[in-house]
Formats: sequence, structure tokens, C-alpha cells
Amino acid sequence: MRTTDPTQIDFRKKFELNDKVVVITGACGLVGRAFCEAAAQFGAHVVAADIPQSNPADYAAQLEERHGRPMLGVALDVSSREGVNGLKDAVLDKFGRIDGLVNGHQNKSHLIFEPFEEVSDDNWDTVVHINLKGTFLTCQVLGAWMADNGGGSIINIPSTYSVVAPNQNLYKGTSLGCPAAYSASKGGVDALSRYLASYWAQKKVRVNMITPHGVWNNHEEQFEQNFARFSPMERLSYNHEVAGALIYLLSDASSYVTGDNMLVEGGWTVW
Ligand SMILES: NC(=O)c1ccc[n+]([C@@H]2O[C@H](COP(=O)([O-])OP(=O)(O)OC[C@H]3O[C@@H](n4cnc5c(N)ncnc54)[C@H](O)[C@@H]3O)[C@@H](O)[C@H]2O)c1
Repeated sequence: MRTTDPTQIDFRKKFELNDKVVVITGACGLVGRAFCEAAAQFGAHVVAADIPQSNPADYAAQLEERHGRPMLGVALDVSSREGVNGLKDAVLDKFGRIDGLVNGHQNKSHLIFEPFEEVSDDNWDTVVHINLKGTFLTCQVLGAWMADNGGGSIINIPSTYSVVAPNQNLYKGTSLGCPAAYSASKGGVDALSRYLASYWAQKKVRVNMITPHGVWNNHEEQFEQNFARFSPMERLSYNHEVAGALIYLLSDASSYVTGDNMLVEGGWTVW
């Protein structure tokens, strides 16, 4: 609205997602579930997209029952063009529109113990294929629809480890680690997001990022202690703490924000 008078603005309303159709990949994961629940609480029709083993249809049915509003679950592999085309068709068949896309999927787990010197081509390709190509495909297929139909909001998820390198001392005395392919794939997600923010700005598709960090998931105690030592806030985060940024970036509250990477990392990269 063209005004300098803030009393004309309903600031609460800016955060509403009423009737917006929001597609969330990795919906059944740790952070994905918080994203879905938060978007649903703010009024969205959530499309929960995840691999078949995660049962996204069941999860969407739970969301639908809890919020009394149509939701949709779609099983797919985000790194398959056929799967992503099917996702778009299913969303348009059911809701006729797409307002938001959140790429919350990830693959890294099978590499977590592997030293860099031993990473195989196959493992490297799998991580890059799912994390980066999956994000490329959903942006291309669903984002292009938004660009052709009045705009929308895309939120991609890089990682603290595409912003800074992992502090290897964090993993001392634990069985954990962070593979290079993960950092590299997430660096690609970051660059792709900035590219698209510029590319689609005039089509009213805003493209932003959220970078979570150290989301608590019953980690081993030594890891939690190490983490606290290196974190200004001296603790891990919780999945629900990442979701505030999502509501902001999906909603009209962030109407002048594009190409941004919101760090939800407790100050990890500040020192
Ligand atoms: N958890 C953290 O501390 C943390 C930190 C920084 C960034 N991130 C990023 O945040 C996002 C969410 O992380 P999370 O902790 O919830 O991860 P998670 O492993 O709990 O969830 C990831 C989800 O992605 C789904 N998935 C995997 N491969 C897929 C594929 N090919 N197609 C569709 N879905 C697929 C999984 O089934 C799972 O439900 C990820 O992008 C992750 O890289 C997480």
C-alpha cells in the first residue's frame, strides 16, 4: 500500500497465511514437521511432500484433522523430475494454486561417519543429487508456475556449514561429523537461491533462505556439551524455534525481502 501512515496498516494480518497453499518438502522430518504445523496454525493449506517411507499422506491427514482445513500429502523423490511434476499436478488438481514452496528435504545421514578421503563418487552424487538437484527441480517446476501466475514465496534451506566451515572440535568424543558433500550441496542451494531471487524478482516470486543450526534431536550428551561451549547462547535450538522465520518469509510481513538468508543459529557465526 502506497502510504507513509502506519495506522492504515493491520500489522497482525500481514503474518496470516489464510488460504495460501504452501508446499513443504521434507515435511515429515524434524524441522519439516515444525514448519507444517506452524504454517497450518497461521491458516495455510499445507502440502506435505516427503519420501514414501515417511508416509506424508498420513501426516497430512493428521494436519487436516487438527486444523479442520483441506491439506494434502504427496509421496515423492524430490530429485526425480517425474516425481516433482507429479507433485505440481497433485497440488493444482486439489487446490488450483501454489503460493509458497519450502525446500526442507535433506540427505546426509549415510555419510556422517565417513572421512573426506574415503567418500565415494556414489555417496557424493547422492547427497548433491537430493539436496541441490532436488531444490533445483522443485524451484524450476513449482517456482515457474508461481512466476507465471502472479508470484509467491520460496524458502530454501542451506546450512550453517555452507556459511562457515564446521568446527571439527565440535565432534570430539562423539560419533558425529558433517560430510563435505553436505556443505558443498548446501553452498549450491545458497547460490541458486540468490540467483533466483534476482531472476524472479520482477515476477513477484521472492526467494529467501533459512539457515537452522544444531536442532535438538536427542543428541548424545557429549555433543550437546561441546555444542554449548562453542555457541554464544550455550545451547542447541529446538525445531519450533526455526518456524517463526518461516512464517515471516512466507507471509506478506516480508513483502520487501528477497535473496535473504535468515540465520537461526543462536549467534554461532557471530564470533
Ligand atoms: N537439523 C539441523 O540441525 C539442521 C541444521 C542446518 C540445516 N538443516 C537443514 O534443515 C532441513 C531440515 O532438516 P531436518 O533436521 O528436519 O532433517 P530430517 O532428516 O529430520 O528431515 C529431512 C526430511 O527429508 C526427507 N527426504 C530425504 N530425501 C528425500 C527425497 N529424495 N525426496 C523427498 N524427501 C526427502 C526425509 O524423509 C525427511 O523427512 C534440511 O534441509 C537440513 O539440511 C538442519
